[in-house]
Amino acid sequence: MEDTILVTGGAGFIGSNFILQWISEVGTPVINLDKLTYAGNLRNLEQISSDRRYQFVQGDVIDRHVVSDLFRLHRPRAVLHFAAESHVDRSIRGPDDFIRTNVNGTFCLLEEARAYWMNLPESERQKFRFLHVSTDEVYGSLGPADAAFNEETGYAPNSPYSASKAAADHLVRAYYQTYGLPTLTTNCSNNYGPYQFPEKLIPLVILNASTGKPLPIYGDGRNLRDWLFVLDHCEALRSVLARGTVGQTYNIGGGSEKCNLEIVETICAILDELRPHDQVVPHRNLITFVKDRPGHDRRYAMNICKIERELGWTPRESFESGIRKTIQWYLEHEEWIREVTSGAYRQWIATHYAG
Ligand code: NAD
Ligand code: TYD
Repeated sequence: MEDTILVTGGAGFIGSNFILQWISEVGTPVINLDKLTYAGNLRNLEQISSDRRYQFVQGDVIDRHVVSDLFRLHRPRAVLHFAAESHVDRSIRGPDDFIRTNVNGTFCLLEEARAYWMNLPESERQKFRFLHVSTDEVYGSLGPADAAFNEETGYAPNSPYSASKAAADHLVRAYYQTYGLPTLTTNCSNNYGPYQFPEKLIPLVILNASTGKPLPIYGDGRNLRDWLFVLDHCEALRSVLARGTVGQTYNIGGGSEKCNLEIVETICAILDELRPHDQVVPHRNLITFVKDRPGHDRRYAMNICKIERELGWTPRESFESGIRKTIQWYLEHEEWIREVTSGAYRQWIATHYAG
């Protein structure tokens, strides 16, 4: 169908926010290819599940037959590649799936996209885009006085997760340079917002604090991240897709650099106000310093001048307003939380935070 886009990993945190925003603000058809790993959740897309513009296909990006069938049947004008294993701590405990999905899966998707794109009529070939969604973690770690990462910063990944994303970014670059596939790559900072799986810092802290459980902070809690509200990221992706220059990469960030301790204390303070009768108040009494993550990157910061200057995108949400909306969302979605924190989640928490 003309104007259809193919989204991979659309049942995850950012992918589902992207699809919901796309359907409401753009409204052209979306095919969502997702394997439904522990991180994929069709509940996130419940409100559009019977919308005729949206179709879900359960499948693996590494499965060449599934991917080539989707290209042949739906003739998408663009691919937005979100599918990935995305949690650093899991990549440390078991890197295999990260290499399989993030590296080999991206390679398979690129190969099938190339085969499809090469056979398109000229006018459609010109318009086709392959947008690869990546991370600031590929650039490695900054010292306290270092300048923020820009698009020319050399890659220096430190975790199996960031190394697998860096490898995928290199493949995407090579497919543009070698074959002319019209690719775009975005490198974004830490996202937060609705539908984030509660293994990541912000939703984990909201859930634990509101249920009287310890708030685990790795090391000294002074590691710095740049935080971006997920819907701002989704808007940035739409700008890059619509107006980005092919073959280019764009940094995306929130201009909101904060250390982990500050993040946790902010969440605790908002919960003190919203839930004064919780088991443990003030919630900050639940803060517990735990063993540091191996190879823990000290600081990420993003220079976003390129996307601001060239595409006119800038984040709308401040951290203060975004975190409040996020906390409220988690407090109002107990059913969603109950579902995602069943068996497999409990197993991860029990193993990872043991001792
Ligand atoms: P997520 O873990 O919440 O979701 C990943 C989705 O991909 C899930 O729905 C999962 O089922 C699906 N998936 C995994 N393996 C698959 C496979 N082999 N085939 C098909 N589907 C598969 O991740 P997220 O936080 O939404 O991140 C999405 C993308 O954005 C990732 O590529 C990630 O590297 C990147 N990114 C994330 C952040 C962040 O802060 N979360 C920041 C920058 C970039
Ligand atoms: P995370 O949400 O896992 O994102 P990333 O590792 O991709 O940046 O972690 C954000 C920061 O929070 C990171 O510095 C690690 C830290 N962190 C904790 O201190 N405790 C935790 O339980 C988790 C999950 C993360």
